[in-house]
Amino acid sequence: MTSKASAPGKIILFGEHFVVHGVKAVLCAINKRVTVISKKNKTQNIFIKSSLGENTIAITESIDNIDNMFKPFFFIAKKIIIENNFSNGVDIEIQSEIPIGAGLGSSSACCVATAASISNLFSKPEKNKILELAIEAEQTIFPKTSGADCTVSVFGGIIEYQKDSDYKIIETEHEFNFIIVNSKKSHSTNIVVDRVNKFRTENKEIFNDLYNDESKLIEKAVESLQKFNLETIGKCMSQNQIFLEQLGVSNDQLQEIIKLVEKDTFGAKITGAGDGGCIIALTDKNKKESLLQRIKTEYESYPVTIDKTGMQVFNIT
Ligand code: PMV
Repeated sequence: MTSKASAPGKIILFGEHFVVHGVKAVLCAINKRVTVISKKNKTQNIFIKSSLGENTIAITESIDNIDNMFKPFFFIAKKIIIENNFSNGVDIEIQSEIPIGAGLGSSSACCVATAASISNLFSKPEKNKILELAIEAEQTIFPKTSGADCTVSVFGGIIEYQKDSDYKIIETEHEFNFIIVNSKKSHSTNIVVDRVNKFRTENKEIFNDLYNDESKLIEKAVESLQKFNLETIGKCMSQNQIFLEQLGVSNDQLQEIIKLVEKDTFGAKITGAGDGGCIIALTDKNKKESLLQRIKTEYESYPVTIDKTGMQVFNIT
């Protein structure tokens, strides 16, 4: 049997970085997905192929010895093989529509889709189990991950997420029109998260004030999302951007892009770790196309909508 699974990327509407330190974040799954196709093979190897290249390890190889971008996916494959007492390897093919290192959750979506696809070769995957495995895999390259990205990728929709608590879906029937603008400077989440940690250690009081302000802002943002109050959501996004700038995770280029889109949107901010990657803006449905036209010669930009399905699994015979 060949198994196919897919999982969505994400944008962070509110709370990136602060979520690592315990503040609630709000994330939204988007209609850009990773698809993973897998099948059992008759060798003793795990083989991975993606648009970024190919790599093979023996099923007996220690994960600690792997030092390449496929490490989380080898981790997943090995763990499932061992749990199922399977004596051969698997072939894995990863196809992605999500830009890498851009704050759109590509690595989490890859972990979720890989875990779901390989698990499905042995038994019907259960969402909470896939989430646990995907977070564990992501920790092999990003030990401090809050787990937020994997959670929204598994369940889809808009979620409130707080570390060590249950996530909560923000139910909405409304259509949200976001645009994404890619600065094309890729970032390392690990490096930016470490930089915020350093800022926290060196500026305890400032960090505590920001932490409290962000927590209050998120309560207001959640209420405005529930009421579909676009003006207030946009203002909260712009305020969140100011807090992120104070944390030191923005840069001149991101600020320039935000300025460029601001007048045609309700609000705009970084999404994800920052210092590169993408910005998101909440737009009016009727202004979206003209805004995209206006900026298209300068920046790669596209509209995104909410993905409500989360991870999906299929059997291909
Ligand atoms: O840039 P991304 O997609 O890796 O998002 C990182 C979000 C952080 O809050 C900075 C880290 C985390 O684990 O939540």
